[in-house]
Amino acid sequence: MSDASNEKTNTMNQTIEQIIQRQSRPRLELPAPNEAELQLVLRCGLRAPDHFRLKPWRFLVLQGAALIRLGETFQAIKAKELGELSEAQVQKFLNMPLRAPMIIVAIANIQEHPKVPPIEQAVAVGCAVQNMQLALASMGYGAMWRTGDLAFNPAVKEYFKAQEKDEIIGFLYVGTPAGPVKELTEQAIEEAVEFWS
Ligand SMILES: Cc1cc2nc3c(=O)[nH]c(=O)nc-3n(C[C@H](O)[C@H](O)[C@H](O)COP(=O)(O)O)c2cc1C
Repeated sequence: MSDASNEKTNTMNQTIEQIIQRQSRPRLELPAPNEAELQLVLRCGLRAPDHFRLKPWRFLVLQGAALIRLGETFQAIKAKELGELSEAQVQKFLNMPLRAPMIIVAIANIQEHPKVPPIEQAVAVGCAVQNMQLALASMGYGAMWRTGDLAFNPAVKEYFKAQEKDEIIGFLYVGTPAGPVKELTEQAIEEAVEFWS
């Protein structure tokens, strides 16, 4: 094999290894990616496959005071919805966005298109989130993709200046991984795949 093709094979193997080894990391702390690293992560997100190049995404990168404000917003929205919150619930909602030093909110800005239904636009944004998770892992950062009922809450959408038709595809929690690494689980191919010929 030529040097050039050897290099290609090695690069592919490293990529595959990183995809297989990636794990969600629920415990995340400072430091978050710096500006240059974040730019690379976002560029990877924006390279996601995207039918008709609709660019159906909007990403909000929240850090510092924006995370505190988001917790206050979650708490206020839930208090309004449920009437009253226990002290434990208040703390839960306030602290939710403080589980990482950075959150990337991925929003599908759903457009009407004769050939690209909403599900394809949402999938494209999901691909962007996964591209970003993989980029972060390759840089040594940890990430965890979360949604939960707040991601589907109209008042939360409104807070992010999204429209009713739009979807919050995920809150990508980002930071330096802390805590133990869980055992990697890999589904058996035959459990999920059929081979037809
Ligand atoms: C769209 C989406 C939303 C998710 N929301 C949550 C969530 O709210 N809470 C959670 O614990 N895991 C959530 N997960 C799952 C984790 O991100 C993660 O994929 C799962 O725990 C498996 O771990 P692994 O990524 O290490 O294989 C979500 C995954 C996806 C794709």
